[in-house]
Amino acid sequence: MNQTEQEQNELKIWKRTHSCGELTKENIQDKVTLMGWVNSRRDHGGLIFIDLRDREGKTQIVFDPKVSQEAHLAAHKIRNEFVIAIQGEVRSRGKDAINPNLNTGEIEVPVNQLKILSQSKILPFSISEYSEAGEETRLKYRYLDLRRTEMKNNIILRHKVSFLIRSFLTKRGFLEIETPFLTKSTPEGARDYIVPSRVSPGKFYALPQSPQLFKQLLMISGFDKYFQIVRCFRDEDLRADRAPEFTQLDMEMSFIDRDELFSLIEDLMIMLFKEILSVKIKKPFPRYDYDDVMSHYGVDKPDLRYGMKIHNLNDVFAKTQFKAFQEVLAHNGKIGALKTEQPDKFSRKNIDDLDIFIKSQGLDGLIPVRFKEGGQIQSSLGKYITPEEISLLKKEMQAIPGDLIFITASNTEKVNSALGQLRIKLANTLKIIPEKQYEFLWVTNFPLFEYSETEKRYTSVHHPFTSPVDEDIPMLDNNPYLARSKAYDLVLNGNEIGGGSIRIHRTELQQKIFNLLGIKAEEAKLKFGFLLEALQYGAPPHGGIAFGLDRIVMLLAGAASIRDVIAFPKTQKATCPLTGAPSEVSPEQLKELHLKLNL
Ligand code: AMO
Repeated sequence: MNQTEQEQNELKIWKRTHSCGELTKENIQDKVTLMGWVNSRRDHGGLIFIDLRDREGKTQIVFDPKVSQEAHLAAHKIRNEFVIAIQGEVRSRGKDAINPNLNTGEIEVPVNQLKILSQSKILPFSISEYSEAGEETRLKYRYLDLRRTEMKNNIILRHKVSFLIRSFLTKRGFLEIETPFLTKSTPEGARDYIVPSRVSPGKFYALPQSPQLFKQLLMISGFDKYFQIVRCFRDEDLRADRAPEFTQLDMEMSFIDRDELFSLIEDLMIMLFKEILSVKIKKPFPRYDYDDVMSHYGVDKPDLRYGMKIHNLNDVFAKTQFKAFQEVLAHNGKIGALKTEQPDKFSRKNIDDLDIFIKSQGLDGLIPVRFKEGGQIQSSLGKYITPEEISLLKKEMQAIPGDLIFITASNTEKVNSALGQLRIKLANTLKIIPEKQYEFLWVTNFPLFEYSETEKRYTSVHHPFTSPVDEDIPMLDNNPYLARSKAYDLVLNGNEIGGGSIRIHRTELQQKIFNLLGIKAEEAKLKFGFLLEALQYGAPPHGGIAFGLDRIVMLLAGAASIRDVIAFPKTQKATCPLTGAPSEVSPEQLKELHLKLNL
């Protein structure tokens, strides 16, 4: 090829004929043009092998001087992550070279023409192998991190989930309707992100913690069935399953009751798990009262993939001579216990560590009891316990010789919470949690109110628009803080994936709840006046739910953190190492916004 021909060839626009994931032996002898990234490069003396990668997969291409001397020569310049285009004729790989793990494993493409479309610097971390890079580095170069197969698959999975949800809900008569981001504070219990207004000096928008009030207004507008896959913003302490901006699948429906909503959501989950994981989930999902999950699992989002429930031993020790237990019973506390799995795995040292753990949860300590042959026990409780109590204990714990149980006693909440944490810790250290098993449950009948020690007042457990349980409405006049609500959570494998409620749709009841929350009429008018007013223009009975989409995708992907299923997540400190956000703004911007910094 002379220079002019070469230049013409450079200019000629190549059209990609196939992705790097689709060529099979059916394509042998096809002339193809592939484009992609150099995933790896192996120089075998005369031949240079490259795995060319794009979103769809990898194809082995070969630079062979016998096919094209020019391309072979140029291939010496190619390095990992260069973007190249090649042309060649698909051929079968030698029998020994077949890779059964790749779609394209039976073929290769000898290159007769090559274009280097773009070069790459040496990467800060390896893309093709397991990357040891820290999260900060991965997030700084997120566009590279997203090239890794695992991350790419998570993002593709996320798209599939959103697509399946949209199509399922559309078929069931739902409309996706957008709601504002620049809005007023919504009371979901976290701190708001606020945005100063330039045109209204001294005034601020709040980014929505959820579209709660707007979706209720959409019901009053008559839209009947609403959903939205929507970003929500909460300035709260972050964990593996919490992000400052996260995505909800938000839903609201008119004229429904809780059972209809549960059934619809169960169908949605069954569809997702079938389509994504080919896993069959059965309905109806079990329902548990909040009080029951708290006393049996010590958390409001129990993982039902394993046992080790918390037992109440108050009856067993009703006549105890043991002072510490007597005191707990006199103060209406709880003597709680759990029977561990794999009892022979526990050494003295393991048990001492668990005791330290329980003390760190604010309790006096943990009493281990081991059951022996012949109705005996081995425990520091030995001298205080009667044979009758041993047999009651054995019965309650369904213990057989060799079993090990842990007992602790204090006020009920503390015992439930500490044993709940111990249960999770034991399950993790004993590695008894089955993978690829999915246990859904609904938690219902939450209390309507809870006392907030920090705010020194009652607050809503869900939010102030949640309806009380019908039979508890009369209680609002004499014993309001014992009333239960029509709120529900959907829990999967120890994760709260969704929460919602049947709402209040009458102004008087809404006012009453505000009063009980200590929200004065004026304050209510200021904060939620628009909702209170709207409720007076014909509000249908309605209810809804919102899911953490990131959490659902995380569980479907088997990822460890929701950050692994968000394309551009923030760090635990709510920063973005890629863009450098949050960052300072210029004095002019501050002036325009009528703001002065007070650092
Ligand atoms: P709630 O506050 O329970 O309810 O939120 C619904 C679901 O959103 C997910 N979630 C989060 N995911 C990631 N990061 C966070 N910071 C975060 N916070 C919440 C959880 C949770 O179950 N408006 C009500 C819903 C309703 O009543 O319809 C609401 O937002 O999976």
